[in-house]
Amino acid sequence: MENEKKKIVLSCIQPTSVPTIGNYLGALKNWKYMSEDYDCYYAIADLHAITVRQEPAKLRKQSMEMYALLLAVGLDPEKNVVFVQSHVPEHSQLSWILNCYTQFGEASRMTQFKEKSLKHADNINVGLFDYPVLMAADILLYQADFVPIGADQKQHLELARNIAERFNQVYTPTFVVPEPFFGKVGARVMSLQDPTKKMSKSDPNPKASVSMLDTPDMIAKKIKSAVTDSEAKVYYGEGKDGINNLMSIYSACTGLDFAQIEKDFDGKGYGDFKAAVAEAVIECIKPIQDEYSHLIADKKYLEDCTRLGKEKASYAAQKTLRKVMKKVGFWQV
Ligand code: TYM
Repeated sequence: MENEKKKIVLSCIQPTSVPTIGNYLGALKNWKYMSEDYDCYYAIADLHAITVRQEPAKLRKQSMEMYALLLAVGLDPEKNVVFVQSHVPEHSQLSWILNCYTQFGEASRMTQFKEKSLKHADNINVGLFDYPVLMAADILLYQADFVPIGADQKQHLELARNIAERFNQVYTPTFVVPEPFFGKVGARVMSLQDPTKKMSKSDPNPKASVSMLDTPDMIAKKIKSAVTDSEAKVYYGEGKDGINNLMSIYSACTGLDFAQIEKDFDGKGYGDFKAAVAEAVIECIKPIQDEYSHLIADKKYLEDCTRLGKEKASYAAQKTLRKVMKKVGFWQV
C-alpha cells in the first residue's frame, strides 16, 4: 500500500580504518539493498571506536572517509538518514539508561568482549565491556525493525533484543524488538591468510584482508596468495576453509550459486579460480571506488550531508528518549 508506514532499518560501522570486502559483502551491500524499501538510519559508530585507543586526527579523518564511502556505496543522504553517532547525544543518554536494565552476567558472556580483552590486554576499559549496550541504544533509539549485520554481531543483537523485551515488560511496550538481517552469502567473510578467523580491518597482516580502496593490482596479489589446500579441486566442503571462503566471496560478488561455481571450475586449478575471484572482486568494487574519489574531494558536500543526517536522526532519537525518560520516572519540566 502506498501510505503504509515503512519498516525501519538501522545499522552502524566503526570508522577504525578503511572497510574490508568483509564489511561490504557482510553488511554494506545489504545496507544499499535495503535502502530502497525501508526507512534507513545508517551511522558511523565513532563512540564505539574509542573503546580501543585511537589517534584523534586519524579518527576524524577516517570518520569523514567512511562517510564518503557510505555515500559511494550508493546510500542517498536525502532519502536515508546517514549520520555520525557522536553528533546525536541521545545515543549516550539512552545507553546509560539501558545499562540499568542489563545484567552484568549477560554482558560478561559476550564473546567479542572476551576476544578484544585478549587483544588489548593493556586497555580493558569499561567502555569495551559496555560496547553491546551502546549498540542496543543505537538500535532501540530508532525503533528499528531490522538490523543488517555480519554474523559476528549476532550475539550483540540478541542482547539488544533481551534488553528491549525486559524494558517493555518492566514498563509497557516501548521499544520495537529488532530482528537481525543477514545476506544469503557473505555474512562471514574469512581472513585470506587464516580462513578460520573472520576478515578484520584491524588485522595487522595486510595480506589477510582486501580493503575497499585497494588497487586492482593489490587485490589480485592478495587473492593469489590466499591460503587454500592441496587438493586442487574447486568445491564447497569440509576441511576446505580457504576455498569455501573464496567461493563465498565469488558468489557474493557475481550472484552465482555454489553449484554453478563448482560446475564452471570443474577440471580447472586454483590458479584459474583465484584469478576469477580477483577479477570479480575488482569489478564489484570499482564503481564504488570511482564514486568515492569524487566524493572525498568535496569536503563541504560531505559536511552538509552529515548536518542533514544529524538533524533527521536527532528528531527520531529525541522522540524515543523522551518516552523512555517518562517511563522510568525522570522529572521532566
Ligand atoms: P564493524 O565496523 O566492526 O563492522 C561493520 C559491519 O561489518 C560486518 N562485518 C563482517 N561481515 C562479514 N564478514 C566479515 N569478515 C565482517 N567483518 C565485519 C559487521 O558484522 C558489521 O555489521 N559493532 C558494530 C558496529 C555497530 C552496530 C551498531 C551495528 C555499532 N552500533 C548498531 C549494528 C547496529 C561493528 O561490528 O562494526
